[in-house]
Amino acid sequence: MKITEHIYLVGSGSRWGFGLTNEIDCNVFLIDTGDGCILIDSGTGLEPEKMDAVIESHGFTVKDIRAVILTHYHADHACGASRIQKESGCTVYAPALEAEAIQEGDEDVTSLALAKGGLYPLDFVYPKSEQVVKVEDGQNVTYGNVTLTCYHCPGHSLQDMVVFGEIDGRNCLFSGDFVFAHGQVLIQPLADVTLKPYADAMQRIAGLPIEAVFPGHGVFCLENGIQYVQAALAKFQSGLIPQQLYYFT
Ligand SMILES: [Fe+2]
Repeated sequence: MKITEHIYLVGSGSRWGFGLTNEIDCNVFLIDTGDGCILIDSGTGLEPEKMDAVIESHGFTVKDIRAVILTHYHADHACGASRIQKESGCTVYAPALEAEAIQEGDEDVTSLALAKGGLYPLDFVYPKSEQVVKVEDGQNVTYGNVTLTCYHCPGHSLQDMVVFGEIDGRNCLFSGDFVFAHGQVLIQPLADVTLKPYADAMQRIAGLPIEAVFPGHGVFCLENGIQYVQAALAKFQSGLIPQQLYYFT
């Protein structure tokens, strides 16, 4: 799905999204930098032919992907990266404290072990990756005409990350599972979830001049996306938990 001149939605499952690829895939965004493509998140890696077909329908191939930036280590965001790296030779980036678990396919640290037989098939395996580059807070990633700044936003996961940059004249926030449409969040009963850091990160990100917001699940927004961040922040500042992401089980 072409969204703006250089941004495409190339993965999205039916449970929380647009039904383009495997049903539990997160939203996967492709950015055409003018010198290769960046993917934001990678989906589950299940039914890869579906994602390839979407990418090819826009005139690209997997081999055009030069970088995959993973917002966090949950399987629906990160498990597609291994296969894409093998086929394209791209660089895979992830939050510094989560990169090793992704590289090693650690099903306990990433909480996949808890979700097998539930959200994920029993035989689902977290694939190891050749190399995952550790991204520090505030680090820039530049390809072609596009520079993206990565911010650590712990809360949803150990070192959950958002990606911010100007594309096609808009300030875009790729928010992963940090914040969704209407200020929803996703707080799960997992060992690495932390609420105060989550609230603090929301306050920090609310200070960015955000226009478009592209969340990891559900709808995106091209204007006034800052309202999503502000809505979540208002709940946190009232001592409450923001609305949970609505989804089908
Ligand atoms: Fe997640």
